[in-house]
Amino acid sequence: MAGNDDGGWFPGLGNNKPKPRRMGKADFFDPASGRSTPDNYSMNQAISSANSSPSTKATGSQEELDSLQEDLLQVTVDSGGVTEEIVMEQATELAAQPVVEVDGSSQNRLLIKNGKVVNADGIEDADVFIENGVITQLGRNLIIPGGTRTIDARGRYVMPGGIDTHTHMELELMGATAVDDFYQGTKAAIAGGTTMIMDFVLPRKGESLIEAFGNWRRKADPKVCCDYALHVGVTWWSDQVKQEMTELAKNHGVNSFKMFMAYKDLYMIRDPDLYKIFEHCKELGAIAQVHAENGDIIAENTKKLLEAGITGPEGHEMSRPEDVEAEATHRACVIANQVSCPLYVVHIMSKMAADVIALKRSQGAVVYGEPIAASLGSDGTNYHHSCWRHAASHVLSPPLRPDPETPDYLVQMLADDGLQVTGSDNCTFNFDQKKLGRNDFSKIPNGVNGVEDRMSVIWEKGVQSGKMDPSRFVAVTSTNAAKIFNVYPQKGCVAVGSDADLVIWNPIKSRVISAQTHHQAVDFNIFEGMECHGVPEYVIVNGRVCVDEEELKAVHGFGKFVPTPAFPPYVYDQVDAREKEKRPQGVIRGPNDEDYSAEHMNGLAVKVEKTVQLATPGSPTNDGHSHGPTASGGRNMQDTTFSLAGEYPKVAAEVHDDDVVVVARDVTPALDDDRKTSVKVRNPPGGRSSGGFW
Ligand code: URP
Ligand code: ZN
Ligand code: ZN
Repeated sequence: MAGNDDGGWFPGLGNNKPKPRRMGKADFFDPASGRSTPDNYSMNQAISSANSSPSTKATGSQEELDSLQEDLLQVTVDSGGVTEEIVMEQATELAAQPVVEVDGSSQNRLLIKNGKVVNADGIEDADVFIENGVITQLGRNLIIPGGTRTIDARGRYVMPGGIDTHTHMELELMGATAVDDFYQGTKAAIAGGTTMIMDFVLPRKGESLIEAFGNWRRKADPKVCCDYALHVGVTWWSDQVKQEMTELAKNHGVNSFKMFMAYKDLYMIRDPDLYKIFEHCKELGAIAQVHAENGDIIAENTKKLLEAGITGPEGHEMSRPEDVEAEATHRACVIANQVSCPLYVVHIMSKMAADVIALKRSQGAVVYGEPIAASLGSDGTNYHHSCWRHAASHVLSPPLRPDPETPDYLVQMLADDGLQVTGSDNCTFNFDQKKLGRNDFSKIPNGVNGVEDRMSVIWEKGVQSGKMDPSRFVAVTSTNAAKIFNVYPQKGCVAVGSDADLVIWNPIKSRVISAQTHHQAVDFNIFEGMECHGVPEYVIVNGRVCVDEEELKAVHGFGKFVPTPAFPPYVYDQVDAREKEKRPQGVIRGPNDEDYSAEHMNGLAVKVEKTVQLATPGSPTNDGHSHGPTASGGRNMQDTTFSLAGEYPKVAAEVHDDDVVVVARDVTPALDDDRKTSVKVRNPPGGRSSGGFW
């Protein structure tokens, strides 16, 4: 048996001391509703309102719910390659029903004993009792009713199931349709320890967002084996789009919108529209997501490379190198910051882009970075493989990077909170589909696998390598996502009241990833041959054991849509605080402000003009003054150094945000050192003056 009884050595645990943790029901749990209702989507269906709490469940009208109760749902239990058809009653509280008997054990009561419960904020030795799909007790000496199935998790970690923030099931892209559909894709997710996915609705330019959203729900709802949420792409901009974004956020449980800075002519959005969309996201309390690559540069590079005869998959990376990703990442951060919109940069693929995120965060920006399984577990040397199929099977955008140190760098960033969340960007195309770009790399359908292996790859590269402890693993594979997208603590933690979405992880066992054994529909695996320590022995989806002693028993259609309410406090509390902090303040001037400087500068040949011109920090007139962080530790947004233009000697001046302070410094190249004199004036005219020269 792995591990030991007395809380001794566990792989990855290091010195991380278990600490007790409780989350009171009162924090969020709504006993009246218990848990989410299944809601086979129809466009008329009302779902949660924009400001509902994470525990607010999707609800339909009473008639709809009543009729749902009467429906018979055809479900498929996939059990170790043997598929049985089971007809079960669908009720409003689907998971609340003892839906199916497996090995004589009622599935609606489950006790997980003797495991180490891992949350993002600590690890504790605790038992977990689950009833009707929800964790109802946590700790020791629990009161367990009869008819409860017990799983002994001694030597295992009991963690929140993974939340994959980025998938594209059955997406039509570049002339091909991704082969993992919502059934096979979510089944594979579960096999790997992921219990919730977030997929993307990507409308074509000119298409209604609401319609596209409805279509996507109709595709997903009947198939998903685990819960899912949806991001919506904003691929064009108009008043209609603006209004539909509002409708999606307020009435359809969408709190995140993805904009593409690449895929010219298909999805790409230009800066002025990006600005307006970010502004609107901010008004809605949504998260703006970006695919950050410079689409114009990629188009030019592609033309040149093809003209030069480079048609193979290696041209894909050459056409969109690291700085093309980093430039767009930086630009998106700058634009979002103008309108105080929280930004989430999807699929971080390069060291340079990761550096931009970490830097912007250190400057106080509300920005999150999402590396993916591919960028954490593979690299761009694969594009130079002599086998075209191998190379093409690694094509995704932004591409994997040729620098083989990239994965370790990104894992370290993830461990250190320079990056926060992980997805897979699972978007799988088979060889015959990849062949669409046999003679032109720009036509190879973009996308790779990852939904099944993300947890294993991150455990191996993160925990097994010693870069992160299991708590950080939980943070970056589920908790942070749940918080950012406002489904925490319903998802993303092991606590009383949380959905029973769990993975029981055996850190001693290992497995080797292979397309021969994976559960995805795709015929290639970019992690082929990687040995991963840590195996999901049990995966529990809303209280149902869907991986049972490593045997997959996913249920077709068992998952449900999870609304993501607007204004996630985890994000918007910080946005609000930052906004207060950086509120612009003008200079208070008196009636004779034109004469003020000449009068008060006491003979210094300086005239301060009425209008001042902001100069770029670091410009020649910037004398290097800086005011450091504010009292709360944030960046002092008033710390602007600007030049005062005129025919008089050049001066640099600064505005401080406490009292109004103007510092005028003659920065004209000195003929005579004595002229380099500064004047400091406090609360000019009518106010105080510190007076004097310095
Ligand atoms: O190559 C990729 N990433 N395919 C999916 C679409 C996207 O950009 O996320
Ligand atoms: Zn993308
Ligand atoms: Zn994607």
